[in-house]
Amino acid sequence: MQTVPISFDHFNSLADRAAGERIEATRAQLGKRAVLLCHHYQRTDIHRHADITGDSLKLSRLAGQSDAEYIVFCGVHFMAEVADILSRPDQISILPDLAAGCSMADMANLAKVERCWRELSSVLNPDESVTPVTYINSAADLKAFCGAHGGIVCTSSNAPKILDWSFARRKKVLFFPDQHLGRWSGYKMGIPFEQMVIWNPDLELGGLTPEQIRNAKIILWHGYCSVHQMFNPGQIARFREKYPDGKVVSHPECSFEVCAQSDAVGSTESIIRIVKESAPGTRWLVGTELNLVERLAAEVKHEGKIVQFMADTICMCSTMQRIDPQHLAWTLENLVAGKVVNRITVPAHEAKLAKVALERMLDAS
Ligand code: 13P
Ligand code: SF4
Repeated sequence: MQTVPISFDHFNSLADRAAGERIEATRAQLGKRAVLLCHHYQRTDIHRHADITGDSLKLSRLAGQSDAEYIVFCGVHFMAEVADILSRPDQISILPDLAAGCSMADMANLAKVERCWRELSSVLNPDESVTPVTYINSAADLKAFCGAHGGIVCTSSNAPKILDWSFARRKKVLFFPDQHLGRWSGYKMGIPFEQMVIWNPDLELGGLTPEQIRNAKIILWHGYCSVHQMFNPGQIARFREKYPDGKVVSHPECSFEVCAQSDAVGSTESIIRIVKESAPGTRWLVGTELNLVERLAAEVKHEGKIVQFMADTICMCSTMQRIDPQHLAWTLENLVAGKVVNRITVPAHEAKLAKVALERMLDAS
C-alpha cells in the first residue's frame, strides 16, 4: 500500500479524455466505497461521472444518507463542509480541488458577523428580536453562529419557508451573505422594500441609522454572486421583443429586477424541472450558470425546446470549474492506493452547532 499520496504533478498534464478514462477505471475499483455527489454547475466531463446530481438542498439531504466510506464532492467548499457535518463520523468528505470556493460565501465571515451582532445590540437585543439566517453558501462557522443564536440555514429552494420559520420566532431577520435571495424571498412574503435594509459590513452600524434598524424586518448582508450579477433586465427585454412567446426562468441569486421580469424563479433543480416539464417547442431564456444551461439545452433539444443563456458574455462559476477531470482522477487514484487527499473536516465544536442550524432547516423544509 502507498505510504505517501500520489502527487498531483502526475495528473497536471493529462488530457481530459485520458483523465476521464482513469476516473472510470478507479470508480470501478472503488465500487460502492465512494459516492460522487455533483452540483448542477459542474462541467459536463465531471457531471457524467456523478452518482447523484442536485441543487444544494438535495445534495445536503443525500450527503447524510449515503452508506459510502468516501463522499467525493464535485461542487464547492461549503458543500463538502455540509457533507462532513451531516454524514456519519466514519465517513470522509473530499473536495477534489481545495481552491474550489464560493466568492459569495467569502463575502461574510465570522468576525464581521459577530461585529454586526454586537453593533445591533447597541440598538436592540438581537438574541431576542433577530433570527440569523445564513444561506447555505457560507462557511461552517457561520452556520455554527446561527445554531448558537437561535438561527437557521436556508437554500435557494426553501428560503421563503425558512423566513416563515424565522418570523414565527423573532420579529426580525439578519440574512447573509446573499442580499438578492433575501430580498426576493422577503418580497414574496409581502415585506415592503423600506423594511428590507442593506447591512454594509465595512461601515459602522452597517451604514444604517438606529431608526432604520428598528424599523427593518430583514437586514440584508451586502453580498452577491458575481456570476448571477451578470444578468440584467435589458437582456430579458431584448429576448421578449424578439420572441414574444418565449419564457424566462432565473435563479434567485439574480438581482430583484431580473427576478421580477422572469416568468419563474427557482433553484438550479427547479430551473431544470420547469424547463423539462414545459410544453414541447417552448423557448426559454435562462438566468443561471452556463454549464447547467448548455447541458439542459442539449437534453431538451429533441423535444423542440430551445434553451438560451441570458447573458451575452460567458459566465461560468470559475470556482466550480476548478473541479476538473485531472483533480478528480488524482483524488480517486489516491483512494484506490489507500490515501485520502483533500479531506474536508469541520472542527467538532463548530460542526455540532452548524448541524443544529442545518437540521432546523431540514426539518422546516
Ligand atoms: P442551488 O441551491 O440552486 O443549487 O444554488 C447553489 C449555488 O451556488 C447557486 O449559485
Ligand atoms: Fe458561489 Fe456564485 Fe459560484 Fe454559486 S455560482 S458557487 S454563489 S460563486
